[in-house]
Amino acid sequence: MLDTIVLLLLLALVILITWVTIQHYQPPCKNFPPGPWGIPFIGSFVYFSKPIYKNMWELSKQYGSVYSLKIGHDFRVLVSGSDAIKECLVKKGNDYADRPPLWVFQLSNPRALGIANACFEEAFQRRRRFYHTTLRGLGFGKTSMESKITEEITVLLNHFKEIVDTPLDIKDIIYRSVSNIICSITFGKRFEYTDPEFIYMIDTMHKWFELIQKIFRLNAISFLRPFYRNEINHCANVGKDLHRFCQQQIDDHHATFNEDNIRDFIDAYLDEARSQQSIGGFSDEDLQSVLVDLFVAGTDTTATTLNWALLLMILHPSIQEKVFNEIHESIGVNRLPKLDDRKHLPYTEATLLEVQRFASIAPFALAHSALKDSTLCGYDIPKGTIVILNLWSVHHDPKLWPEPDKFDPNRFYDASTETVQKHDSFMPFSAGRRMCMGEQLAKHELFFILLIYGSTVQVCYTCRD
Ligand code: HEM
Repeated sequence: MLDTIVLLLLLALVILITWVTIQHYQPPCKNFPPGPWGIPFIGSFVYFSKPIYKNMWELSKQYGSVYSLKIGHDFRVLVSGSDAIKECLVKKGNDYADRPPLWVFQLSNPRALGIANACFEEAFQRRRRFYHTTLRGLGFGKTSMESKITEEITVLLNHFKEIVDTPLDIKDIIYRSVSNIICSITFGKRFEYTDPEFIYMIDTMHKWFELIQKIFRLNAISFLRPFYRNEINHCANVGKDLHRFCQQQIDDHHATFNEDNIRDFIDAYLDEARSQQSIGGFSDEDLQSVLVDLFVAGTDTTATTLNWALLLMILHPSIQEKVFNEIHESIGVNRLPKLDDRKHLPYTEATLLEVQRFASIAPFALAHSALKDSTLCGYDIPKGTIVILNLWSVHHDPKLWPEPDKFDPNRFYDASTETVQKHDSFMPFSAGRRMCMGEQLAKHELFFILLIYGSTVQVCYTCRD
């Protein structure tokens, strides 16, 4: 009798678990992309070890270039490979131009203000156009950008002269010089490399990234949040610190604002907010988030790419020498580089492109979400679905890039014509309606700063025991 009861209870338990699992994996619509099953309530994390983008690429070989993953209580649609990503970002760019509301970013930006996390609504699109035009005028355009970058490069060179023969961690200097360029465009001022406030803000930005990575999975697995209270509070405080720093810059600008002398991006924003034709949604709170986005996006991405560039030069001395010789022959040592030099430095340019492909420093772009019911590679994607684009997979597909793990600038260089070769499936800045707003600035910064390193401090390293 007892045996029968135990058996019945076990059977009931099995039925319950099966029912919960089936309910958990019930797709949001009939023709939804397929995907692997994971553990109920936790989801598909079981499949992933680091680096996640490689694991996700592997899964696409089994489930196709568009597949779904259940992560916690949400489905995510994963898009890999050049064709599927182009369909999503370019062909159906309007359908997938939204951003999902992600809890981790809401900790310090609850209303998803600013640029990177903002919903793709009408008012935001108009504000985004205004940012584009304004930034182009202030520093993202060719001439003004050249002068801002040259100004920073001159300081950087003087700094090198002062510390000649002293070992230094180049990473810090790269971060500070890159960050100063965006600071001078947005805040109208650069900071001394030793300024404690500036160093604190850059450290805060690093800390913020680190904490976000630690707690990112809690976006979808909310029931684990109580176990990470300290990290969550820390992340929220660090994010708020970045906002406070930007608000301080806004307050300084309010105090000295003169509509006849628009000095920088903050002035231009305040002017637009005050003007009669203001297009709505302009506020100090929004400006704070816009500045945080520009400061963070404008620093970390470019600085990380430059760190990769230097590392790859160290690891490939013969490529480094070719770059060095090209720079020397074209520019020499008696003047600073100019943007116009770029067309005479095809191998250097190809090397930078290969650094971006190889490193793919933003492997998943930022999360997108479906603005309306749509389709992707024949599957139905309901409005609001979170869509993750694996840009890394585009840059490491062996069908497009033979031996993708090999660093080889010749992929972008035609030796017979000594010209740069464009590649259709190269998208480090993503594509479409939400593509990177700083592409031009970043390209010029990478070019200038690598040139400076190339022509003045040919990269070397000391082996330590
Ligand atoms: C090598 C340097 C850089 C790389 C590789 C890079 C890459 C990217 C990528 C992949 C995205 C996501 C696009 C998407 O979700 O589809 C993005 C967004 C963005 N980037 Fe960059 N970026 C770089 C530098 C910069 C710079 C210098 C700035 C400007 C200050 C900037 C500002 C932004 C902004 C504001 C967004 C959000 C755009 C939106 O949501 O509408 N980025 N970037």
